[in-house]
Amino acid sequence: MALPKLVILISGRGSNMISIVEAIEAGSLPVTIAAVISNRPNAAGIDYANKAGITTAVLDHKSFESRESFDEALADKIDSFKPDLVVLAGFMRILTTDFVHHFKNSLINIHPALLPKFKGLNTHQRAIDAGEKEHGASVHIVTAELDDGPVVLQARVPVLENDTAETLAARVLEQEHKLYPAAIKKLIEDTSD
Ligand code: GAR
Repeated sequence: MALPKLVILISGRGSNMISIVEAIEAGSLPVTIAAVISNRPNAAGIDYANKAGITTAVLDHKSFESRESFDEALADKIDSFKPDLVVLAGFMRILTTDFVHHFKNSLINIHPALLPKFKGLNTHQRAIDAGEKEHGASVHIVTAELDDGPVVLQARVPVLENDTAETLAARVLEQEHKLYPAAIKKLIEDTSD
């Protein structure tokens, strides 16, 4: 059987994308990456993917007139790779409902909080300010509502007394790098049952 194909969307450094590449290389994640796509031309993750010999594409959202026209072009680009799963890995764009429906049940995201807590941005500072004892990250199926949709897997870390948003983010990110490959594996195993 052919391995499931991923398209990974990034906007920046792409460390979660790299963790997926490394899991594949280590033989612990039986998938292939059809392409890595960025909405920012200078995303560091694109350089990494190019050097790793992965097909890349850049669709600069700034060169589109509207969110709708960008999302339509992005959906067409993704479709051209015929992926089984579309993986948002630090893709910092709000997606239109049409886009989300187009990839219904095959679009996943990693969010740096224990959903349903702390949807949106600045999750680490907000967790500290709220006096949380525990924080973490969630991989979830994307639905039309922002940072909503069924959770596939979560990873938890303690919030320490002297944590800043930066130290907490680093502790969470370390877990994200294990969580995303594990969640993709789980989804693939669940769908092949
Ligand atoms: C990650 O921490 C990810 O959870 C977060 O952005 C970072 C991207 O890092 N995503 C969101 O905040 C989505 N709303 P990376 O580019 O190194 O993977």
